Amino acid sequence: MTLPPFHLPTRATILEIREENPRTRTFVLDTCLEATPGQFVMAWLPRFDEKPFSLVSPEPVTLMVAAVGPFTRLLHEKTVGESLWIRGPFGQGFQVPADQRRVALVGGGYGVAPLLWLARRLRGQAQEVTVLLGARTAQELLYTDAFQALAQETGPTRFRLQVTTEDGSAGQPGLVTSALEPLLARGDVEGIYACGPHGMLEALARLARQHRVPAQLSWEAYMRCALGLCGSCEHDGALLCLDGPVLRMGSEG
Ligand SMILES: Cc1cc2nc3c(=O)[nH]c(=O)nc-3n(C[C@H](O)[C@H](O)[C@H](O)COP(=O)(O)OP(=O)(O)OC[C@H]3O[C@@H](n4cnc5c(N)ncnc54)[C@H](O)[C@@H]3O)c2cc1C
Ligand code: FES
Repeated sequence: MTLPPFHLPTRATILEIREENPRTRTFVLDTCLEATPGQFVMAWLPRFDEKPFSLVSPEPVTLMVAAVGPFTRLLHEKTVGESLWIRGPFGQGFQVPADQRRVALVGGGYGVAPLLWLARRLRGQAQEVTVLLGARTAQELLYTDAFQALAQETGPTRFRLQVTTEDGSAGQPGLVTSALEPLLARGDVEGIYACGPHGMLEALARLARQHRVPAQLSWEAYMRCALGLCGSCEHDGALLCLDGPVLRMGSEG
């Protein structure tokens, strides 16, 4: 199959739509990309707007979309068989060094989108993976069934899943960072890989520094060109569309 130029929008047909919760849907498209976990695509609705979304999977291209504003609400009105234009993949994804044996994947809200693919990939390597998923309420937790299935297939010595909710309606009550802290204190984590809201990432960055554990954090910014031209995605001196969205901190640079 010939892949289209990554910087030009290409038309895809929606093959399947799955309702994850009242605010979030997964869209499966009829196209494939070569990409790594953590990379994103720009989704375009002609004559309306274009917005970035993490790849849940590249084969076929799968996106998880939370309806938070005009673009995502319009996307939620689409039905199977309708079109969506995408360009990409863009940016730097997660890269887990082979010598890191025990890693933690931390997802908050729709930030879990790129982590399922990363978890599946790590299952084929030697890592022991702990996945920590956090949300405000049980209803806002995403992809827990898929992670649970992965945990069962892989076995408890190599794959663990911990869930937290702020209101205590599922899993451990509290923030996902409080579930990670004891693991870090015991020296059970050699690398942190995370995607989620800004506040969660800031807290993880502090924990990573405090425990001297390298971290790769996927940050969000307002994106327009996704090509390093417009500067709208600047974050701490980095252009997130080129240098990110996954930025590394700690001993691996
Ligand atoms: C690399 C990357 C990957 C992403 N992956 C996903 C994904 O997998 N699934 C998903 O649902 N969304 C994802 N997003 C976020 C999505 O692109 C935005 O929420 C988008 O702006 C929604 O467009 P909208 O017109 O519906 O809402 P908008 O009107 O653009 O935004 C709605 C609300 O969200 C706030 N908001 C929007 N963008 C940001 C931001 N970057 N930082 C802080 N607040 C913001 C706005 O202030 C507003 O309150 C990703 C963003 C980036 C940069
Ligand atoms: S989105 Fe234009 S420079 Fe990153």
